[in-house]
Amino acid sequence: MLDYQAHQTLLAGKVILVTGAGDGIGREAAITYAAHGATLILVGRTQSKLEATSAAIEALGAPLPAIVTLDLHSASAADYQGIAAALERQFGRLDGVLFNAGLLGTLCPFEQIREREWDELMQVNVKSEFLMTQALLPLVRLTARQHGDASIIYTSSSVGRKGRAYWGTYAISKFAIEGMMEVLADELENTGVRVNTINPGGTRTKMRASAFPAEDPMNLKTPADLMPLYLYLMGSDSRGQTGKTFVAQPK
Ligand SMILES: NC(=O)c1ccc[n+]([C@@H]2O[C@H](COP(=O)([O-])OP(=O)(O)OC[C@H]3O[C@@H](n4cnc5c(N)ncnc54)[C@H](OP(=O)(O)O)[C@@H]3O)[C@@H](O)[C@H]2O)c1
Repeated sequence: MLDYQAHQTLLAGKVILVTGAGDGIGREAAITYAAHGATLILVGRTQSKLEATSAAIEALGAPLPAIVTLDLHSASAADYQGIAAALERQFGRLDGVLFNAGLLGTLCPFEQIREREWDELMQVNVKSEFLMTQALLPLVRLTARQHGDASIIYTSSSVGRKGRAYWGTYAISKFAIEGMMEVLADELENTGVRVNTINPGGTRTKMRASAFPAEDPMNLKTPADLMPLYLYLMGSDSRGQTGKTFVAQPK
């Protein structure tokens, strides 16, 4: 699946929501999904970045995306319920969700983790995904019932499977995401909704640059290099794959 070759119409007619769609891996995934026929809902906190992603999609002649500007740090359950209701009204289906937005926070010794930053990372990386999943799930299940399948992808990290010194709250938040994926995948067995995580591995983005400022980014894979796996898990060729962590860059 790392060298998966998607048919150009793999996602035709599908409606897919991507969080953190204004930058990095999320931007690339949104554009790639649109290029394969999907209608995108672009979620993120910086309107101008979402508009830039939308313009890139429009330039491809792909279906025009919807933009939802939302700060996952301050958004409430009611906000997510509102999004779900709007999607149901406008599209009547939701075939896929890529939970990709995330914060790295400060890398520091455990004893120096500040409570305020812990709360912010847990809110953005974990609780917002829990609340949004709860809100969107009825429409995702309905879509799987009516159209055969649907896909939920969370974004993990190597430090979400094996803790590492100084990666504190970020690592702990990714362990939580792995747990959420496994619980949900088990609950949704036989519903047609598959639930998995992707661990992108070191990828040339702003987040990676802030974690490893001395590294030469030209030695890293780009978000575009990872897209075969992102396409495979979003499209129907991955039916039946659920409850798993997919590593985009195995050692
Ligand atoms: N790059 C890597 O090497 C790597 C490795 C392992 C895992 N990952 C994971 O991959 C995912 C994508 O990371 P990336 O490298 O593409 O990072 P990135 O370039 O920093 O992009 C992160 C995205 O999340 C959005 N975001 C952050 N806080 C938000 C908030 N409060 N509300 C709404 N949106 C918010 C950002 O929006 P703004 O741009 O508007 O701030 C941005 O679009 C993350 O979950 C990350 O943990 C990355």
